[in-house]
Amino acid sequence: MHYLRMLTAVGRGSCRFRPLPLSSDFAINEPGAMTVSESVFLTTAIVAARAAGDVLLEWSKKFTVSEKSRKNLVTEADVAAQETIFRIIHDRFPDHSFLGEEDLAVEGASGEFRWIIDPLDGTANYVHQFPYFCVSIALEQNGELITGVIFDPTRSDVFSAEKGQGAFLNGERLQVSRCSVLNDAMCVASLPVGAKGDEPQVVQFINALPKCRSVQRTGSAALNLSYIAAGRLDAYWSGTLKPWDMAAGALLVTEAGGRVTKMDGSPFDVQQSDLLASCGGIHDDLARVLTDTSKWELSIKRELPAS
Ligand code: IPD
Ligand code: CA
Ligand code: CA
Repeated sequence: MHYLRMLTAVGRGSCRFRPLPLSSDFAINEPGAMTVSESVFLTTAIVAARAAGDVLLEWSKKFTVSEKSRKNLVTEADVAAQETIFRIIHDRFPDHSFLGEEDLAVEGASGEFRWIIDPLDGTANYVHQFPYFCVSIALEQNGELITGVIFDPTRSDVFSAEKGQGAFLNGERLQVSRCSVLNDAMCVASLPVGAKGDEPQVVQFINALPKCRSVQRTGSAALNLSYIAAGRLDAYWSGTLKPWDMAAGALLVTEAGGRVTKMDGSPFDVQQSDLLASCGGIHDDLARVLTDTSKWELSIKRELPAS
């Protein structure tokens, strides 16, 4: 169904939602018109993420692959999972706004709340049956991230966070690692698809390699951020992210006690493509390494044979 057509049913009024027949534990003030608490948002995000995860698993043996642009893959599963998420959340919160990777851009009547959705983060992994992909759903209130859920359907792992309430994995509180020395750090980075050897982000990656214990490339920004929150990874950076790749994960990391900034250490902005997330103890050192690329770039160029 077309998202804009669905919006014809949007009603006005802030913080009102329609109850769904779900076995959740949120407080109901009066039937049909309730004051929303953050846990209602969280419950809804978890229900939607799990439903989308089911869709991804159902499609896993029958999808076809298309390229949105060179090496940028999409399948029917991406689209079907997003439709499932949108239907569940929009039914409950018809006046909210939505931003999703698969051409989902809806201006809700209230203007206060916006859901940011990646129905399948790690599409290339999904296509190759490499089990490191997830559903990512975040909610902003007046531009501030207040709820984040990342669901890994291959492990049935629900990573969740609410502003000021901490981060959790399947209900267990999460805490970032205590890593404080870059040399001991298990890091992960994203590189643009089809990146060439002399691109700044490749140079950054090469620059960081000898400084860290390891620098991985895993293919799912949202799961990387969840793993930092869980203390499994110590840092992640990328200069090519979209809001749906990082919104939920950024909240998870900060709620688990970590830090999220741009790569140069300046304040994070979900609308910009630049992110450095870490457990905290190595953050400034890593930001210095990542921003010290100009000298490295020149030294690489000096060593390249003249063409
Ligand atoms: C991608 C993944 C990948 C990151 C890319 C994203 P998608 O998302 O998060 O790790 O490096 O920048 O576009 O396309 O699989 O949803
Ligand atoms: Ca993504
Ligand atoms: Ca995606």
